[in-house]
Amino acid sequence: MMQINNLRPLRGEGRKLFIETYGCQMNVGDSEIVLSILQEEGYRYTEEINEADVILINTCSIRDNAEQRIWGRLSEMRRLRRAKPSLVIGVIGCMAERLKEQLIEGEYGVDIVAGPDSYRSLPQLLRKAEEGGKGINVELSREETYADIAPVRLDKNGVTAYIAIMRGCNNYCSYCVVPYTRGIERSRNPQSILREARQLFENGYREVTLLGQNVNSYKFEDVDFADLMAMTAAISPELRVRFATSHPKDLSDKLLDTMAQHHNICRCIHLPAQSGSNVMLAKMNRKYTREWYLERINAIRKRMPDCSITTDIIVGFCDESEDDFRQTVSLMEEVGYEFAYMFKYSERPNTFSARHFADNIDEETKGRRLAEIIELQNELSLRSNQRDVGKEFEILIEGTSRRSEEQVFGRTSQNKVVIIARKEHQKGDYVRVRITSASSATLFGEEIE
Ligand code: 5AD
Ligand code: SF4
Repeated sequence: MMQINNLRPLRGEGRKLFIETYGCQMNVGDSEIVLSILQEEGYRYTEEINEADVILINTCSIRDNAEQRIWGRLSEMRRLRRAKPSLVIGVIGCMAERLKEQLIEGEYGVDIVAGPDSYRSLPQLLRKAEEGGKGINVELSREETYADIAPVRLDKNGVTAYIAIMRGCNNYCSYCVVPYTRGIERSRNPQSILREARQLFENGYREVTLLGQNVNSYKFEDVDFADLMAMTAAISPELRVRFATSHPKDLSDKLLDTMAQHHNICRCIHLPAQSGSNVMLAKMNRKYTREWYLERINAIRKRMPDCSITTDIIVGFCDESEDDFRQTVSLMEEVGYEFAYMFKYSERPNTFSARHFADNIDEETKGRRLAEIIELQNELSLRSNQRDVGKEFEILIEGTSRRSEEQVFGRTSQNKVVIIARKEHQKGDYVRVRITSASSATLFGEEIE
């Protein structure tokens, strides 16, 4: 029989691929996997959208405004296609999963729709589109972790990198679309994670962030998240390890003890509270109370007094009263977060809260509450930064400061940005610094000679 496979030309045949990524770090990681799959197929990456033969938009559905931005982009793409009729346009990621055929059938006439678990089928989907058809695959998987695919780094400073260690989410917070768009939780084989981390270290990277929607529930056979962190930290004392994001309910003492035992596991925990009100927390299906959350904060502080704590907050969730909101304000003050991502509640179709509760806090109230906590957080961040003035830290240099060629910036273990004079410092160097002044966003320091 003829060996057809050997004769098969590369399907991409040097065609140029442009990828635009929206949303979270998981999406950035996914774009890197997509690029790896398609380079293997003969496509070439371009940073010039006007040169592209194929444009893929990796999308986010977490809030309505994220989707609105992408609709805007899609209508701009229509203009590109008018100029170049052979152009293939694909929507991948969470919005692809959520809207499915609607994207192909609608006025935007997208050629390809691929959900987060179907990137291995992109070569076939592209072939269909290039032959004038439409390609769609939005099947979710119980197993897919892309463990064997080496991501092609897009987000490269050559010093810090993200490693996806798990996919999906089983928590079903009532407001959240993620379990529907990214499917059920599954963990990636630890050996493939360690191989990737080691490879990065050998290539000069000095910091990895282990990434997942809910990393502390990582479990692969008998390896749990604390074990995985210890194994990653053991690669080299020169390799910093971070993680994101943790769910408070899964933040174990074992993990905190592991962090405390390794100086290269960074002193920074992102612990989304979402609300300070027990009524809201129950309604959000967060599975913890304010008191329980504060106990976890104490558990962190007891072991690592210098650990920074950051959070996500939602205001204006269904039925949120003025008193519920005040409790969020007081939680933020009590914890004294270093940093927070803050959002107005945005109803997502088909989530539990969309099906069962009314989105009944008016826009003006949502806006007022959001503005109040943003102002509070600025104050908290400034206070926290001012407390650092005079203290010493080790920072990892990431690159040139945006303000001046004469300055470089790096981060402390607590994930705060410090700006220092350039001198001989290179990306990837560790430098001991003393903080000399602070704003709410940045620390300024000097090297300790
Ligand atoms: N509306 C507003 N914010 C949301 N988040 C998740 N879903 C929604 C929603 N429907 C926020 C949560 C989460 C972060 C990633 O996005 O705070 O932690
Ligand atoms: Fe969404 Fe909750 Fe899962 Fe985070 S933990 S992705 S907020 S369902």
